[in-house]
Amino acid sequence: MRYCFVLAAGLSAALLGACGSPNSPATATAPLPPVPAAEVELPGKALFLQNCALCHGANGKLGGNGARDLTKSNLNQTGRVYIVTHGMGKMPSFRDQLTPEQIEQVAAYSLTLR
Ligand code: HEC
Repeated sequence: MRYCFVLAAGLSAALLGACGSPNSPATATAPLPPVPAAEVELPGKALFLQNCALCHGANGKLGGNGARDLTKSNLNQTGRVYIVTHGMGKMPSFRDQLTPEQIEQVAAYSLTLR
């Protein structure tokens, strides 16, 4: 029963009926449901959510505290690294919180926001 349930949960509804018949070839040879491959994410995503989403929002568009809509920013990687490192206006500097490598990563991630 449990075996059937697992298969039925993972596979298309077409196989649901197969669970009723013992030794159904469809059930026996059915490939395992695709394991959702761990989403390939830029390392900067977690950093962005931790450090930037507060003001910029998870999608970069929040604009809290007068923050810029990052999806509309024309700054390239170098410009973003500079601003994150040194801050600008109300945008805090992250020099003390993040390593230069992390700043590169979070800036790269911010460039993927659209
Ligand atoms: C405390 C709120 C706050 C946090 C946290 C914050 N920002 Fe900002 N950010 C701002 C504000 C405000 C501005 C606009 C500054 C200005 O124009 O004077 C800004 C501007 C920017 C800009 C410039 C956009 C442009 O085109 O002018 C970038 C890039 C940026 N932030 C990236 C980040 C990243 C990456 C993080 C996380 C590491 C982050 N910010 C965290 C408030 C914040």
